[in-house]
Amino acid sequence: MTTPTHATPEHGDRQTAVEEDLLQRVLDSFSGCDDPRLREIMEAVVRHLHGLIREVRLTEDEWRHAIDFLTQVGHITDDTRQEFILLSDTLGASMQTIAVNNEAYRNATEATVFGPFFVDDAPAIPLGGDIAAGAQGEPAWIEGTVTDTDGTPVPGARIEVWECDEEGLYDVQYDDGRTAARAHLVSDEQGRYRFWGLTPVPYPIPHDGPVGRMLDAVGRSPVRAAHLHFMVTAPGLRRLVTHIFVDGDPQLAIGDSVFGVKDSLVTAFERQPAGTATPDGRDLGGKEWSRARFDIVLAPEDIPDTHH
Ligand code: BEZ
Ligand code: FE
Repeated sequence: MTTPTHATPEHGDRQTAVEEDLLQRVLDSFSGCDDPRLREIMEAVVRHLHGLIREVRLTEDEWRHAIDFLTQVGHITDDTRQEFILLSDTLGASMQTIAVNNEAYRNATEATVFGPFFVDDAPAIPLGGDIAAGAQGEPAWIEGTVTDTDGTPVPGARIEVWECDEEGLYDVQYDDGRTAARAHLVSDEQGRYRFWGLTPVPYPIPHDGPVGRMLDAVGRSPVRAAHLHFMVTAPGLRRLVTHIFVDGDPQLAIGDSVFGVKDSLVTAFERQPAGTATPDGRDLGGKEWSRARFDIVLAPEDIPDTHH
């Protein structure tokens, strides 16, 4: 690969030579690295970083500002606030990594961003159970199947689901240790699943920190299109991390702050007027509710090369 030249003609040959000599010396500094993958990544980091600095002719003040910004991203990060993930998400780096690693395969369900609000060890619920556990919002009945790309049902798939409440907050954003609006369930012998959740609502990603200030400075909104998170795992099949989005949500047209929307994931949440009978006979006390169907198709763990 040739190194692009970023010094413009008015910088002159001497300036270009200084910049390229430095870049080359840094690249050469990795020659003793005996891990070829680490070396490849470090060389690319340096090439792109130097390319950025030279392309925009970064000032020393701007570099200091960037370091201050990253320092603030580190300082606000703790066990429940992951500002680096927010930064990666809002710059599209998370979705680009997902694109690179989840190449489209036949009719497999598309993946999207993981986000910072997944929690290990969410409670188990039975099929037809309710994930809300006290979280407020409009009830939603969600059902579907898990199959492989040949349409064979996948029994025993582990389905993790999580979402925010009607205030747009996940349980972990309250400081009372609650676990709500998250659970896991297991598909039945025919690969079917069903549960009660909440009709998703749009909400802003946490924007009271440096990433929020960055979005503000560039005139971008922190709001995400309404969605419900899924992570589905089954032996021999590719792990799927995805969401369903709500068809008709106005935020879909405005845009999703982390670039997570894929058309195939936009799902009808059919409105059910108060009093409509529920699939399992549950009494919702006169509340309106919605219902959605999401059939999940898992790719094989090892995708044959021949599909290209
Ligand atoms: C989420 O959907 O939970 C999320 C994704 C990216 C950034 C913040 C939140
Ligand atoms: Fe979310």
